[in-house]
Amino acid sequence: MRSFKNRDIISLKDFDRQEIEHIFEVSERMEPIFKEKKRVDLLKNKILATCFFEPSTRTRLSFESAMLRLGGGVTGFADAKVTRAADWRAEPLDDTFRMIENYADVIVVRHPMAGAAKLVADCVNIPVINAGDGGNEHPTQAFLDMYTIKKNKGSIDGLEIALVGDLKHERTFHSLAYGLSNFNVKLALVYPEGYGLPVDNMKALREKGIAFKETQDLEDVIRDVDVIYTDIIRKEEFKDSLVYERLHASYYHFTLETLREAKEGLILLQPLPRTDGIDYQISPELDGTKHAKYFDQARYGVVVRMALLASVLGAVD
Ligand code: NCD
Repeated sequence: MRSFKNRDIISLKDFDRQEIEHIFEVSERMEPIFKEKKRVDLLKNKILATCFFEPSTRTRLSFESAMLRLGGGVTGFADAKVTRAADWRAEPLDDTFRMIENYADVIVVRHPMAGAAKLVADCVNIPVINAGDGGNEHPTQAFLDMYTIKKNKGSIDGLEIALVGDLKHERTFHSLAYGLSNFNVKLALVYPEGYGLPVDNMKALREKGIAFKETQDLEDVIRDVDVIYTDIIRKEEFKDSLVYERLHASYYHFTLETLREAKEGLILLQPLPRTDGIDYQISPELDGTKHAKYFDQARYGVVVRMALLASVLGAVD
């Protein structure tokens, strides 16, 4: 296995099964620190810069919490408008990050432009972690999604997993599809016509021999699947608001009724938020059911991000 030390985490394409399982194993080792709300000194003397050019609740705060629990320090910004990158000076991304490299040992960046995290990684010598680059990828989310599946189902192998939604634009699906293609899974791709996975994602599924079916109708697969992974529409990717509104009007929603014929052990995952300014994608009536695992994901996000930070900073083997 390639060492994680000093590696960037930009795309799930860059990680094989052994490496993904390594992160699961390190995450498991982090659980006692998280559960007992401890602060250890594994990353003392290390500084994380969280640089967010797009809003975030879970991703930024869980990264910061992970760093603090491991004894490190945190700097950064949650709103680029307070930096010179987003005022009238419009400082270019590479200039901004050439500076930040001097102030931290690892950078977590979220940016509305696809490819932004790679661009940052190419101009600094410290590890860069992609916290979402436009409609492209959100790799740390996929690591925690897969960890949540493993924790709930025991193993990822052997499962039938439905990805349900706008698979074309939503970055969480892209990273997860790459990640899952390393396991022995069957996929059900459920999407409105014209909103399937990008070509590159489909190529990876075919190359890895992943069996998949495609449908627009969740009812076609609801009785068979062990996991449903869904997300709201990434509105930012739509220049034409009418196109967005049309898609929104017939989009997938989850209620007790939707899951009536689901397997007993079905788990429902969603990266959160589950609201889109208009309605709930997942009705709160599901929260008390055994299917609801979306808040587990947010919780596991902390240990998985502890594992990723400790790994790229070379503090664990
Ligand atoms: C993402 C968000 O809110 O931007 N959610 C998350 O990180 N938990 C989902 C997304 O990447 O679209």
